[in-house]
Amino acid sequence: MKNKLIAPSLLSADFGNLQRDIEMLNNSQADWIHVDVMDGRFVPNISFGFPVMKTVQEHAKKFVDVHLMILEPEKYVEEFIEFGADLISVHFETCTHLHRTIHLIQSKGAKAGVVLNPSTPVLMLEDIIADVDLVLLMSVNPGFGGQKFIENTYKKIKETKDLILSNNSTALIEIDGGVNLDNASKLFEAGADILVAGNAVFSSVSPERTIELLKI
Ligand code: DX5
Ligand code: ZN
Repeated sequence: MKNKLIAPSLLSADFGNLQRDIEMLNNSQADWIHVDVMDGRFVPNISFGFPVMKTVQEHAKKFVDVHLMILEPEKYVEEFIEFGADLISVHFETCTHLHRTIHLIQSKGAKAGVVLNPSTPVLMLEDIIADVDLVLLMSVNPGFGGQKFIENTYKKIKETKDLILSNNSTALIEIDGGVNLDNASKLFEAGADILVAGNAVFSSVSPERTIELLKI
């Protein structure tokens, strides 16, 4: 997969017009569609589950990137894959048996990512980096769109890149939270491959144009 990808987050879409917003993304330069699933337990917010995932499956023509912010994600990964997930990322903080969960996702035919909260050190990935397809670094505390980007993320991108290189891993680096037109190019330069953007895309006057500009 090439880098400099943009993954708009449906969390900031208009749920009353979800099909319209997905079609807008289909016709834009967006590369992936980011789907944020929250359970009100791991994170202090509830977003959506399978019915919305079904709508995504019916209309999305782009790579579907599912971010599970739920406890016991291993119970649900197969169903998300049946509902069209191309990649599923699970939080390090929610997986007692992370190795098993990563391989379960891959064995069902999807790519597998691991997510780190802002306070979880990159070194925790040392023994899983060779197995994962993607590392998702949270650049806000998960749970809500529209939060302020945490600057320490730049340091974590560098550490993740070093870890990937020293283990001959092919994992991509994705950044999620507070991405906007001011920090996108700096994040790509720092080594990010994919940027998630919710508020920056959907609150702009022209979401399609913002997606284009995020790549520059
Ligand atoms: C936060 C979610 C993000 C969120 C990003 O918990 O994981 O994907 O939608 O939203 P913005 O880009 O508005 O920070
Ligand atoms: Zn997310």
